[in-house]
Amino acid sequence: MSNQMTITFPDDWHIHLRDNDALKTTVPHAAQSFKRVIVMPNTTPPVKNRQDAEAYYARIQKHIPEGSDFQPLMTLYLTPDTTPEIIEDAKASGIVHAVKLYPAGVTTNSTAGVSSLKNLYPVFEKMAEVGLPLLIHGEASDPEIDIFDRELTFIEQELKPLHAAIPTLRIVLEHITTKDAVEFVLGANDNVGATLTPQHLLFNRNSLLSGGIKPHLYCLPILKREIHRQALIKAATSGNPKFFIGTDSAPHAQSAKESSCGCAGCYSALTAISHYAEAFERMNALDKLEAFLGHYGADFYGLPRNTETITLVREDWTPPDSYPYLENEHLIPLGAKQVLKWKVK
Ligand code: DOR
Ligand code: ZN
Repeated sequence: MSNQMTITFPDDWHIHLRDNDALKTTVPHAAQSFKRVIVMPNTTPPVKNRQDAEAYYARIQKHIPEGSDFQPLMTLYLTPDTTPEIIEDAKASGIVHAVKLYPAGVTTNSTAGVSSLKNLYPVFEKMAEVGLPLLIHGEASDPEIDIFDRELTFIEQELKPLHAAIPTLRIVLEHITTKDAVEFVLGANDNVGATLTPQHLLFNRNSLLSGGIKPHLYCLPILKREIHRQALIKAATSGNPKFFIGTDSAPHAQSAKESSCGCAGCYSALTAISHYAEAFERMNALDKLEAFLGHYGADFYGLPRNTETITLVREDWTPPDSYPYLENEHLIPLGAKQVLKWKVK
């Protein structure tokens, strides 16, 4: 077994950078691990149109380290007021690469999201026409639905009808967490792909809830049963180009995570590559890692694959307990206090 791997420089097709002072930390971290990142638009206020995206892009640019060719790929936040004109304008900007759908109320900063997809079909038609993918947080927004069933309910009630109505719309089902999502993606046409996070490949709901609650493993969609994790890792390591990296690295200050009402999100910007390598190795599938991290996402988005490389070495290391964040706050990385087996050189 090889102790060193040189692979295409990875991209991250789903990351949260937040805004303003947070960017001082999140942008250099993202730039250390990834060449390009799809930047989520659930800032406060959200990124709703071309002007917002251009202004946010400029704020991010200020924090890209000297000499780095890191590239933020911007997204719009779909609201009930999004119009086909907004889509055309965003596409014309050249910096907006996708549109994100948050069902209203499902997660962090999603109150401006959408309750009825039907009204937005003209917007989806326009996205299909101009070639902007729809990125979906696939959870039903009805609070009555059990939190462990929300992904499946969304797929049945919203996603299947949408894909059937507009099969030319490119869709990424983000951070999938169930075997049902894997089955949907496999059964859909080639316009449908999915991202997978490190935490959903490595952990299940026991990891979150058994032997003490682990706030730093709390994210949305929530970790599921082991049979679901197994379906996810099988999909990720299958070599099927529909499944690719999207860390969902989501910074929340330690005080907001370790709280009586803790925020959802795992911060993995600096550890995700190591986590994915470990998950793939456990499946004896290190030969599939490069394409998952560095090829399939670019192909799906119609962008060139990166030509630069990174080298991973098999070497035990422990991430820092925390990183400084904002004023007097900290970010706790996914994998804090654990020994990780692969290190980026
Ligand atoms: O765990 C999550 N955190 N899931 C999301 O969908 C949003 C994200 C965030 O923005 O913190
Ligand atoms: Zn996210």
